[in-house]
Amino acid sequence: MAREHTFAEQVLDWFVTHGRHDLPWQQNPTPYRVWVSEIMLQQTQVTTVIPYYKRFMEGFPEVQALAAAPVDQVLHLWTGLGYYARARNLHKAARQVCAEHGGHFPNSVEELESLPGIGRSTAGAIAALAMHIRAPILDGNVKRVLTRYFAIATYPESSAVKARLWELAETLLPECGVAAYTQAMMDLGATLCTRSQPDCERCPLADRCQALAAGEIAKYPGKKPRQDKPVKAVQMLILHNGQGEVLLEKRADAGIWGGLYSLPEQPLVRHTGQDEPAAHCMVEYNGLSCDLTDAIRLPEVRHSFTHFRLDIFPLVIETEPASSTGVADSDRWLWYPLDHSLEVGLAAPVKKLLSRLAEDSRPIAR
Ligand code: ADE
Repeated sequence: MAREHTFAEQVLDWFVTHGRHDLPWQQNPTPYRVWVSEIMLQQTQVTTVIPYYKRFMEGFPEVQALAAAPVDQVLHLWTGLGYYARARNLHKAARQVCAEHGGHFPNSVEELESLPGIGRSTAGAIAALAMHIRAPILDGNVKRVLTRYFAIATYPESSAVKARLWELAETLLPECGVAAYTQAMMDLGATLCTRSQPDCERCPLADRCQALAAGEIAKYPGKKPRQDKPVKAVQMLILHNGQGEVLLEKRADAGIWGGLYSLPEQPLVRHTGQDEPAAHCMVEYNGLSCDLTDAIRLPEVRHSFTHFRLDIFPLVIETEPASSTGVADSDRWLWYPLDHSLEVGLAAPVKKLLSRLAEDSRPIAR
């Protein structure tokens, strides 16, 4: 019986007819030319890179020319590509190659990695594509292919998964043809095994891809786990006057919701005694008196800020209409009508709460 084709054989067979063979850095792939291309291709599309690459190679055909140039000239040829630290590092590394290695790129992954701007995957790509060293790469394309093929759902940047992916990338390398294989893996990720709408029908690895077999391609690569934000909790008092109006307070200009109108707040004591809001109201709100006998708790509202989450516990309290005047005159207070909006800035969750109350006025219609 015929031996099953290995992963690398399937990828290499596909590459012969479907891979990219005419990219400028594939012509005369010296370490210098491959290095410049790999740096330009970080965070940048192939089609954007090509004209920059050609101009750069005309300006600096050899590492010596790059090392001898003033950094401004290098930045000039980089203008428009973005991430300019890449250009500065390129220039620094060129000088280092000339000063410390006689103008020849060192031929080991470890030494390449010690040059400015060269990480493990870029070092692997230079070693494999230009020096035919059996070194793995693990760029975004390869991570996508491998997490799908092996159905690895955990976020690939987590240290355990990253180590596992490097191990797999190394194990899967062919004995020979590592340059073609490396380019093939990049091409597969860039043209078929794309982030959205991958073309699995044309994929040479489809027959053993575990994500495809499970019908769960979209699950891979795993998403970055959400960093749980700190949570603050606050009680918001919905003080209504029995005439369809709710008391809002203008917030200080500094801090969250600066200058917007919001509901009066109390720091949350989770099991608030019934007379606690009353005492607070009497002191804080100009003698406004509240009848708490029928205070109603509304469902919690969650609001997300960039750096924390605010859990809002709304408490509906009817105030005596006669006492409304105590807060009515001040710029700081506003009796806000629920049946139409006023042209004032409202804090987002307050707006949400008020429109809920406008739609379902049962809590205030007693
Ligand atoms: N992205 C990174 N390296 C690449 C290469 N050699 N060819 C195409 N895209 C790439």
